[in-house]
Amino acid sequence: MADEPLVLGIETSCDETGVGIVRGTTLLADSIASSVDEHARFGGVVPEVASRAHLEAMVPTVERALKEAGVSARDLDGIAVTAGPGLAGALLVGVSAAKAYAYALGKPLYGVNHLASHICVDQLEHGPLPEPTMALLVSGGHSSLLLAPDITADVRPMGATIDDAAGEAFDKIARVLQLGFPGGPVIDRLAREGDPAAIAFPRGLTGPRDAPYDFSFSGLKTSVARWIEAKRAAGEDVPVRDVAASFQEAVVDVLTRKAVRACKDEGVDHLMIGGGVAANSRLRALAADRCERAGIRLRVPRPGLCTDNGAMVAALGAEMVARNRPASDWDLSADSSLPVTETHVPGQGHAHGHGHGHTHDHDHVHEVSKDNLYS
Ligand code: KG4
Ligand code: ZN
Repeated sequence: MADEPLVLGIETSCDETGVGIVRGTTLLADSIASSVDEHARFGGVVPEVASRAHLEAMVPTVERALKEAGVSARDLDGIAVTAGPGLAGALLVGVSAAKAYAYALGKPLYGVNHLASHICVDQLEHGPLPEPTMALLVSGGHSSLLLAPDITADVRPMGATIDDAAGEAFDKIARVLQLGFPGGPVIDRLAREGDPAAIAFPRGLTGPRDAPYDFSFSGLKTSVARWIEAKRAAGEDVPVRDVAASFQEAVVDVLTRKAVRACKDEGVDHLMIGGGVAANSRLRALAADRCERAGIRLRVPRPGLCTDNGAMVAALGAEMVARNRPASDWDLSADSSLPVTETHVPGQGHAHGHGHGHTHDHDHVHEVSKDNLYS
């Protein structure tokens, strides 16, 4: 609908420069430049390389998104940007760019949470999120179970990994198997030709006394690495497909079991799965199966919206505008460890908010001194 907020979102928390444009819950553009190839030879994301790549990709990616959406920057109702969590230097490029665009265009600026954005993106695919929604967020940096009564203002952590993130475990096992980086997609592909029951790898934190919603993947990782080493030491071939399938099964078994349990315990009948690992085909299939049996409606965005992108940031930004949440101040800074409970970074002294219809708030712009624009 034409009266829904038109928002541009910028994402630079890791190695993708993402710029998305949405109107309300409708996706208009999703433009991405990735520096993943530049990191591959290091086996992981190199922060300095990522920051430089963001800097080079930013303006062309914004221009591509505007062209793709067929809108003019002047028509935007706000600029949203990932304020954290993520790599500090990488976030800083996005935050600085968002400030510059917002300031130059006279639009409100919304610094938003990367994790809440991973959840909110599903609105672009499946419409407004039910309230509350249970969310399983699994990426290279995070693995959490979150209860979200209101994605713009109220996200409550139920549990999280106590060591590695799920995606990190995929990446580390892929390295041991010499499959390259990132590991998730290649393990997913090889696992389809392997036997998930070939090797009984441990399921972390599933004992009766363990925290019901926390995760642990470091024991699994060690166990898989030792199993592979033993095979190599014995001069035997490593059955890569079976190892991939059995490892993947151990991860997704625990993730889905705990997510369904959290839904049942909290009486929530919707589960959303987001983050890069939500692109995993076995996770999607097992979650669908277990949710169906438990009477839970499952929502998982298409794989391209699960991994980092700008549309997810725009989706949360549009929701912030629609709900009249306060805009951020011009001294908004990147916060590499922004807590998941802080869905956005509201400014001080903006009680009137910057809701839809207040897109030309010149007072807000004139309060700014150029000194703090790039702070
Ligand atoms: O959300 P994301 O793009 O970036 C972070 O915020 O971390 O997630 C990246 C992670 C990587 O660890 C990658 O290996 C994993 O998501 N991943 C997958 C798959 N696609 C990406 N893991 C398992 N299966 C996949 N198909
Ligand atoms: Zn992410």
